[in-house]
Amino acid sequence: MTSTPLSPDAIAQIKQAAGDHLFLHAQQTADWRGAGPRMYVKGDGVWVWDAQGNKYLDAMAGLWFKSAGYGRKEIADAVYKQMTEIDSPPAGGVVPVQAQVAAKVASLYHDKNARLFLVSGGSEAVETAVKMAKKYHHLNGKGGKYKILARRGSYHGGTAMSASLGRANADTMGPEMVGAINVVNTTPYRCAYCDGKCNLKCANEIETVIQFQGADSVAAIIAEPISAAAGIHVPHKDYWPRLREIADKYDVLLIADEVITGFGRLGSWFGTERFGVKPDLTTVAKALSSGYAPIAAAIATKKVADAFIGDQSKTFRHLITFGGHPIAAAAAVKNLEIYEREKLVENSRKMGEYLFDQLQKLYEHSIVGEVRGGYGLLAAVELAQDRQTKKQFPKEAGLATKVPQKLTKKGIVSFRAADLIALCPPLIITREQIDFIVKVLDETIGELEQELGVK
Ligand SMILES: Cc1ncc(COP(=O)(O)O)c(C=O)c1O
Repeated sequence: MTSTPLSPDAIAQIKQAAGDHLFLHAQQTADWRGAGPRMYVKGDGVWVWDAQGNKYLDAMAGLWFKSAGYGRKEIADAVYKQMTEIDSPPAGGVVPVQAQVAAKVASLYHDKNARLFLVSGGSEAVETAVKMAKKYHHLNGKGGKYKILARRGSYHGGTAMSASLGRANADTMGPEMVGAINVVNTTPYRCAYCDGKCNLKCANEIETVIQFQGADSVAAIIAEPISAAAGIHVPHKDYWPRLREIADKYDVLLIADEVITGFGRLGSWFGTERFGVKPDLTTVAKALSSGYAPIAAAIATKKVADAFIGDQSKTFRHLITFGGHPIAAAAAVKNLEIYEREKLVENSRKMGEYLFDQLQKLYEHSIVGEVRGGYGLLAAVELAQDRQTKKQFPKEAGLATKVPQKLTKKGIVSFRAADLIALCPPLIITREQIDFIVKVLDETIGELEQELGVK
């Protein structure tokens, strides 16, 4: 397959319009000047084409979401059908496909009696789960429990409240959410407590914070099964069970933020399954529709959801106009059908093992500090000046520009790759395509070594 390039005039016109009128998300908008961000015009499977007709393997699955791959006509057909039947309900009503997607996701979740609050994106899902956790305690006569513990360096969203949690993308926007308490993360390769031989002090510290804050003031702990924002460090196998234990001990709800890991990314439907833990609330988004339409959800276990069932005083007074939009719900239902038919979760597990195995070859390069992964198709290669001391490259080494430039030139789309190269390919990926990714990484790192004069 190929893609017809746009004419240089058409590209110039679009760039002019974008440069004058469009904000770039979390990027410097002035970057539209000069070469500007790459414009993509076509996608098929794991491949995408830019406006100039160049082809790339998308090793990031969009922004961690294109799990079923690009160009799925049957998802487009399902959306078209829904749109032409009834695109959205009158006030207070529902459209059948909204119930259908909720029931399907609940059937895949650890609690088959779970209830979903459908929204449009991950940040809204996090806002919803946090509000739900606070009101849950209120309804149980413990309204003083309002604080939310999040781990430093984690990312839970871009809205004002969710950005307070973890502060991965902190900005100067004034006071954060009252009650957002940021605690230590788990980053085994760069752990302040244990030098890689985990003693669970990072988890135990969370208990210390709860005791210090007072358990009667803490509503929930929120954490990603593996935090992409904090560096794709795989936690110790006892880390998540320890979080569960702490949450239970202090009557604190455990919220798993599975916006990236939900729907097969770690080789299981939900990432927490890999760590043997059942959270009270789970947030999902991106891969729910493989990014074909914006849909997300806060999933509440029956224990939590039942608190909201009864008279009007128990109603969860939370409303997002386009939350769970039927068109997006139709895309999600079809996407999950594809998942089951093509066994994408199994493929993620199998191909994830293969990817992790192949990435070990990169240790031949002295600037490879650590290769992380082994849990489905989420992996990372961290570059360091010295593997033993883990000394990081200075800014002047220019990795933030050199690495993405080299990867793109060799035919791979990455995201903010610098000394940490994240890998999150579509779950449909094959061995041959993984071989291509590893070959490109091998060449890229080899060239970097020569340029940096370390070999
Ligand atoms: C773990 C996690 N939570 C929440 C969000 C926010 O999702 P969204 O950008 O869809 O609002 C993200 C986005 O990347 C995420 O990775």
